Amino acid sequence: MALTMDAIVSLCKRRGLIFQSSEIYGGLASTWDYGPLGVELKRNVKEAWWRSMVYERDDVEGLDAAILMHPETWAASGHLSNFSDPLVDCKECRRRFREDHLPEFIGVLLTAADGSGATETVIVPADSFDEAMTKVKQTGKWSSKPKGFWTATQLPPEQVKKVCPECGGQLTESRQFNLMFKTFLGPMEDSSATVYLRPETAQGIFVNFENVQTSMRRKLPFGIAQIGKSFRNEITPGNFTFRTREFEQMEMEFFCKPEDKCKPGERSDMEWWEYWKQERYNWYIRYGIRPEFLRMRVHDADELAHYAKGCVDVEYNFPIGWSELEGIANRTDYDLKQHIEHSNAKKGLMFFDQERNEHYIPYVIEPSAGADRGTLAFLCDAYREEAVEGKEARKYLSLHYSLAPIKCAVFPLLKNRPELVAKARAMALDLKPSFFTIYDDTAAIGKLYRRQDEIGTPFCVTVDVDTLTDGKVTIRNRDTMNQERVPMEAVKTIVSDALANAKKQ
Ligand code: GAP
Repeated sequence: MALTMDAIVSLCKRRGLIFQSSEIYGGLASTWDYGPLGVELKRNVKEAWWRSMVYERDDVEGLDAAILMHPETWAASGHLSNFSDPLVDCKECRRRFREDHLPEFIGVLLTAADGSGATETVIVPADSFDEAMTKVKQTGKWSSKPKGFWTATQLPPEQVKKVCPECGGQLTESRQFNLMFKTFLGPMEDSSATVYLRPETAQGIFVNFENVQTSMRRKLPFGIAQIGKSFRNEITPGNFTFRTREFEQMEMEFFCKPEDKCKPGERSDMEWWEYWKQERYNWYIRYGIRPEFLRMRVHDADELAHYAKGCVDVEYNFPIGWSELEGIANRTDYDLKQHIEHSNAKKGLMFFDQERNEHYIPYVIEPSAGADRGTLAFLCDAYREEAVEGKEARKYLSLHYSLAPIKCAVFPLLKNRPELVAKARAMALDLKPSFFTIYDDTAAIGKLYRRQDEIGTPFCVTVDVDTLTDGKVTIRNRDTMNQERVPMEAVKTIVSDALANAKKQ
């Protein structure tokens, strides 16, 4: 059975992963809170990204820039003038839509079959057009006009005005709506105090190019990585955490030489772009995304931003269909050039190439991923339902061990035996400093296993009556459900080794 977003939303609520924000007040549209297990999962996703982008490389530095930036930043980046979506309102039901997201409609001219010459214009969603035309041809009836018989002809597209996809009402003319959230710095609420919540983390990196390059004594090529919140007043957020107004990005700006400044053997900007496309694809596979659910979609020339030399989207086959997880763009020298024009930095935002004895503006390759979208993709991809004879299907999250919120759960087989409880509790406490471990005795053993399966805990350890005499416990693996009796003291090494091996792969 195909996985639905509803199944994921329900699992997230039931198991403490993600809750509707401000739920007790009826919720705030499209805002979500990560619960005790969700916060672990998302932290692990971000940690896996940081590990591969910063710790495992020697050419990328980290950064944590402020969310509020000088407002001129957004004039330079183009967000003040261009970061907008076309918006239309329904005059009847007052709903709001992005004009470019409206479904396609086809216009039809109906002519009365009684020879009276009466005509009517109707419009139909493109996906039901063929069916409606077949019906009118066969029966002379048009479904929204119960009286009379009609013949139908398709109207030319320029004569068709789009209508509200919810109620069929008339739409207003489209107007541009800037997606940046505004606020005020300090007590004065006037235009001179207006600042914006950043709509992307990238600009915090560009404005710090000189600081990082000189303080860390970097030469080209090198990158600056950052994880942090971004805000966009999206017109049509939705699909759970896929599109929200407050979200986290994991972005890296990789500064490199444009082709004409490269020595033989050095990678040019387009070669770095190819490199980063592969690296980012590999990262999702490394952390468990099934290759058949991941694809790379290269932007057509007419889709590219005017300054970009190339862009590819990493797409995941979510329950809502193939959708963007991450974009990898060659942004050329556009951003640094813009900040040079708008600020006092001038040569500081250029790179001084000692060998060439010249200043020039580096090119930038930008892999830009969403932490929330990534987390959602890992969740959807890990969701499994397995038939169990005579019992309810086993639901489990086959998460990569590095991403699993809890690594190990310890249970006493019988909670009314204080010696077992004490041993299991002591064991969980002993494991905690090595990896995230929990103790649980709030249900029978079968239910405890199922609970941990559903949140993707790779290892469960059970202390039973025999433990008291032979010092051994049962360790169970989430994916294979294999159970093995091992000495209590061996558990820490078994789990640590398994986690370390998974991290290396
Ligand atoms: N600096 C380039 C940039 O911001 P983007 O394609 O607008 O590019 C990059 O955003 C990534 O950020 C997207 O691929 C997506 O994962 C995430 N993202 C963007 N808007 C989002 C939203 N409203 N909700 C959740 N994630 C979003």
